[in-house]
Amino acid sequence: MKTKFDPNKVRKDFPVLDRVVNKNKLVYLDNAATSQKPKSVIDSLTQYYSSYNSNVHRGVHTLSVEATEAYENARVKLAEFIGSIPEEVIWTRNTSESINIVAYGLKNKVSAGDNIVISRMEHHSNLVPWQQLCNQTGASLRYLEHNLEGRIDLIDAKTKIDAKTKIIAITHMSNVLGVINPIKEIREMSKKFGTYLVLDGAQSVPHFKVNVNDLDCDFLSFSAHKMLGPTGIGLLYGKEELLNEMPPFYFGGDMISEVSYESAKWNDLPYKFEAGTPNIADAIATGTAVDYLNSVGMDNVFEHEEDITKYALEKFKELDGYNIIGPTDEDARGGVISFTHDKIHPHDIGEILDKFGIAIRTGHHCAMPLVRSYEIVAAARASFYLYNTKEEIDLFVDALGEVVAYFDKF
Ligand code: ALA
Repeated sequence: MKTKFDPNKVRKDFPVLDRVVNKNKLVYLDNAATSQKPKSVIDSLTQYYSSYNSNVHRGVHTLSVEATEAYENARVKLAEFIGSIPEEVIWTRNTSESINIVAYGLKNKVSAGDNIVISRMEHHSNLVPWQQLCNQTGASLRYLEHNLEGRIDLIDAKTKIDAKTKIIAITHMSNVLGVINPIKEIREMSKKFGTYLVLDGAQSVPHFKVNVNDLDCDFLSFSAHKMLGPTGIGLLYGKEELLNEMPPFYFGGDMISEVSYESAKWNDLPYKFEAGTPNIADAIATGTAVDYLNSVGMDNVFEHEEDITKYALEKFKELDGYNIIGPTDEDARGGVISFTHDKIHPHDIGEILDKFGIAIRTGHHCAMPLVRSYEIVAAARASFYLYNTKEEIDLFVDALGEVVAYFDKF
């Protein structure tokens, strides 16, 4: 029989969770912005710099060979994590950079009269590059509609996706609404038109099993720092034949196979897209983060987040004046709950929660048009990960009650 995952068993692996903030034990509920790091990931960084710091793909000396092996081994781990092969996995700086590389690379596939389809819930990373590509090519940008709870309207989608749709770029899971989008259905609609499917996995890959073959996406981007890894490193997956067709985004060292005074030839995949000395230490540590997630099991991570999200949604019902933005049921949603209060500004909610040692995010969550579409300028957001407990949800919901009591005094 499968034993139930216990978040308390993993908490000891995350040193920062012992922090005291404003005389209270830290309750970290800002995981959609960035996750905390287990000791193994922190140790992996220290170990690289203290025992085999060296450049990759260049040296014949022992340290360089060790660094190259660790760096490429991390790529293999990441490729396996998403059901791909190392040639299709490119190290970037973050999700934004990954999407920029794709938007640039697909430019010559898009012309005036074509359209690019995105949803209205994209964060800026998966919105601004497509706006720019449309400006540069004369293509039009079409938006998929969703209902008040954030569920994509598939009937509307059928009218938006047509033979002129060259690219669909969509988030797998919304960082504001928490919804998990119906990617397979959207893929099914677009397949007959040969549309490229660009998936933003920033909020999905860290939280549940994502398999690029299963989803049949052409590209997938995500960031390490949201999945227990370091900041400053991200990933781009692309189908091999498409990456081979695409022009490189950066030019310089390592991305070439041959250079003369007149011209240059590009290196094989994935190096064609990795110019210059890469972020070696952070790539290796991202591999360690994947080891950690695999040791817990992605099914356990997701089931646990489903469990505490359901618990938190139930607890929210006890509160007066708070409104959830996004689904209030737990179907096809992840561990993100955005909310407002009828009378209290989200920043005030965030600041008072901080007095209790509770970290949430407030603002537009890098998705300004979406937040404004709800006729608000900002929202508060709690987002969960594998180390959050029901006891922390209780503290959070009790503190939300205290916020109201505090403002009721005035
Ligand atoms: N997109 C990140 C967030 O949701 C930064 O907070």
